[in-house]
Amino acid sequence: MPTAKAQRGGEPIRIAIAGTGNIARVHAKALAAVTAGNAAAIIVAGCDVDAARLSAFCETFRIPSAYRDLGDLIRQERPGLVHVCTPPSTHYEQALTCLGGGSSVLVEKPPTISLRELDELAAAQAASGPDAPPWFATVFQHRFGSGQRRLKSLIARGLLGRPLVAVCQTTWFRDQEYFDVPWRGRWDTEGGGPTMGHGIHQMDMLLDALGDWTEVSAVARTQARRMQTEDVSLAHVVFASGAVASVVNSVLSPREETYLRFDFEFATVEVTHLYGYDDDDWRITPAPGHERDVLTAWKRAETGTPSGHAAQFGHVLSALRAGRLPPVSPADGRRTMALVAAIYASAAGRRPVTPDDLAPGTPFYGQMNGT
Ligand SMILES: NC(=O)c1ccc[n+]([C@@H]2O[C@H](COP(=O)([O-])OP(=O)(O)OC[C@H]3O[C@@H](n4cnc5c(N)ncnc54)[C@H](O)[C@@H]3O)[C@@H](O)[C@H]2O)c1
Repeated sequence: MPTAKAQRGGEPIRIAIAGTGNIARVHAKALAAVTAGNAAAIIVAGCDVDAARLSAFCETFRIPSAYRDLGDLIRQERPGLVHVCTPPSTHYEQALTCLGGGSSVLVEKPPTISLRELDELAAAQAASGPDAPPWFATVFQHRFGSGQRRLKSLIARGLLGRPLVAVCQTTWFRDQEYFDVPWRGRWDTEGGGPTMGHGIHQMDMLLDALGDWTEVSAVARTQARRMQTEDVSLAHVVFASGAVASVVNSVLSPREETYLRFDFEFATVEVTHLYGYDDDDWRITPAPGHERDVLTAWKRAETGTPSGHAAQFGHVLSALRAGRLPPVSPADGRRTMALVAAIYASAAGRRPVTPDDLAPGTPFYGQMNGT
């Protein structure tokens, strides 16, 4: 049986999927798309505590081995990579099991339900040294579509000028039945409501483009659903660059839309979509006098990749095969998780919050509801 570390280079990476519910199907299909026609990876095993769901999943996706316990799976199969698709409160333990068994791990968002857990996983990953597996990465798939990568390349080349104002809107709709699933809408199992569970994707794109935030003022309320956490949050975010952003995270919005808008000195860049974008969902509007430079660079930049799991998996598998830390690393994901914690801390305390307010030992470092 090959070990996790022996799978780099020519051999396919042996992948296991832990949790065989809704998003696991997206993972299995995306892996099939990414590995079609090449031998980059194979799914060798699935794992779920629900035996019926596990066997149906393995049968559908022709996965040869099924396990009820992740520790057993790791010991028997020695996967090079485990995709963790279980509910959020289990991510920490599952990722520790993977890293402890020598397997790299790609965890669905949110990576953990607290900053403390995320920092502990970063430390567990670091135990093998910065350049050696096993590694820990988080699924934030909207960083990897060509629209976002095109925006980032123009920012990096200074073609858009200073970022000034941004809007980040997750106005989605989830009915009561959705939140009646036992692990949803609870602090101990989901780590929050739409701020943590839904808007986190868009806030991750916002921060991926604009960098470090320095201050957050927020309101969070439970307006219409029976749930322990908020069903809507609103935030004003100040960035280290001086840019400011307005953020809405709602699951109460019958006309659903995902909207990000970036106003730079030399252009406005917008994307309007719902659960995934392609190139046609992006618009760029140059400021007067900047039409030629901005539009030429935009047309010449990367195109053709919709956002989605397949886009991120391609980057993850390439990194693993090259013996590099895969994206999104714990350090990269932490900025987004800290923004989520800051929104909850600001809303609860009714005051602006800075990163220092979330230092180890502070209430919102340990749990997203600060208790
Ligand atoms: N990236 C995205 O766009 C996206 C979209 C939806 C969900 N998600 C995330 O994916 C994760 C799973 O969500 P879902 O909607 O697929 O949930 P789900 O409830 O449909 O599936 C979770 C599965 O995990 C299994 N499970 C629970 N505890 C387990 C354990 N200890 N060991 C093995 N299996 C266990 C359950 O039996 C279930 O089959 C969550 O973190 C969620 O936030 C991400």
